[in-house]
Amino acid sequence: MNKIIVANWKMNPSTSKEAENLFRVVFKKEKSLKKNQIIICPPFPFLFLFPKKKNKNILLGAQNVSAEAEGSFTGEVSPKMLLDTKVSHVIVGHGESRKGGDTDEIINKKLLNLLKFKISPIFCIGERERDKEGSYLSFIENQIKEGLRGVSKSDMKRFIIAYEPIWAIGKSAVREATPEEFVEVKIFIRKVISDIFDSKTALSLPILYGGSINSSNANNFLEQGADGLLVGRDSVSPSKFDAILNAIK
Ligand code: PGA
Repeated sequence: MNKIIVANWKMNPSTSKEAENLFRVVFKKEKSLKKNQIIICPPFPFLFLFPKKKNKNILLGAQNVSAEAEGSFTGEVSPKMLLDTKVSHVIVGHGESRKGGDTDEIINKKLLNLLKFKISPIFCIGERERDKEGSYLSFIENQIKEGLRGVSKSDMKRFIIAYEPIWAIGKSAVREATPEEFVEVKIFIRKVISDIFDSKTALSLPILYGGSINSSNANNFLEQGADGLLVGRDSVSPSKFDAILNAIK
């Protein structure tokens, strides 16, 4: 299966000049990407800077979307506006957005809102902490079930799921997950999706790993079964992201 690499720039970089440079770094790799896909997710103001040059392996994503379609919602960005910037994917349910107030109910509304406009969700799930009894699995199951409420089987074709344990992401990460820990959850996610829809839907769903990915661990996750990676910090350093792309075999 071809791999999907999501570059989540978060609230970086600070200037449009740096953003243009980061786009350039990825486009320079165009030929070596083979069939792997990169989805670059910059902050809203930089979406329009995405190079016009067409490339079906380098796509544009956003980091969030409103749960509403249009109207008096100060500070919000609608799916229709995103379509105008050529966005094909949107991250929903990221741990940092959940911390900022996105509940499972809001996340569900956002997912349904995107699907109305045929935009593909990158649906993030992941527990805050691990316990030996395995209750993190029921936490994840609940996130999936609540998030996908009302989503049809045919809409599932648009989905990418990113497993991002909160304890492994960002500057306060305790450590990265091990590929084995990821694989356990990946199988569990497939089981939950299979119970909601069917096994065909579950098996065709790309499941990515995100959390402290760098050039030394990237290939490990891919070789052991991740359908792709969601890269945060190291996607906004031109040299580090370049190294991650080089590490992917
Ligand atoms: P990180 O972030 O790679 O900086 O840990 C991943 C994410 O939060 O999306």
